[in-house]
Amino acid sequence: MDSTALHEAAARIDERLETMVKPHRASHSRATARLAAELCERFGIDPAQGLLAGLAHDMCRDLQPSRQFAMAEAFAIGHPLFAARESFQSLLQDERFRERMLHGPAAAHALENDYGIKDTAILEAVAFHSIGDADLCDLAKIVFIADKLEPGRVRRPSDADSMLRTLSLEPLFRYTIACIHDWFSNQGMELSPFTRVLYARIVAS
Ligand SMILES: [Fe+2]
Ligand SMILES: [Fe+2]
Repeated sequence: MDSTALHEAAARIDERLETMVKPHRASHSRATARLAAELCERFGIDPAQGLLAGLAHDMCRDLQPSRQFAMAEAFAIGHPLFAARESFQSLLQDERFRERMLHGPAAAHALENDYGIKDTAILEAVAFHSIGDADLCDLAKIVFIADKLEPGRVRRPSDADSMLRTLSLEPLFRYTIACIHDWFSNQGMELSPFTRVLYARIVAS
């Protein structure tokens, strides 16, 4: 898709964000979009893709869980290759953790059906932003990173800015997963089983 169509969809979502999500989430989505666009620029990807994925990634977070589940299932039916991934399956099947993670595929479904976005990298970035995956495309890694390290994140480590400026994409992705692992461990919170697997595979290995 060309950048103009992506910018138009981004402008429509930006206008409506406050009607879809709580105010702090609208601010977080805009900050994620800005950082994702900057990282796209740095890593040679169209910034319009990062901007749109960042704005859209949490737009279904405040919907009823049953609605999110139905939309995620619809996304899975339309995208069997994404749905076949171990990460996606864990997300659908893990009853304890899925409530806080299904908003990703739900938003990808809305982006495709309500905003006409067919760009699979953008759909992947939105769908997998909370579960993560070792096989993410570069745009999806960028949106995953921007979601966790945007400047408004309170548990963001003090070296995040320098890492965002200097690390190449793969090390930055590993750094971000390590940050998530540390946030959860430091607070005695339980990581989702798939995030534990992801950490073991690409950080601790
Ligand atoms: Fe999210
Ligand atoms: Fe987010």
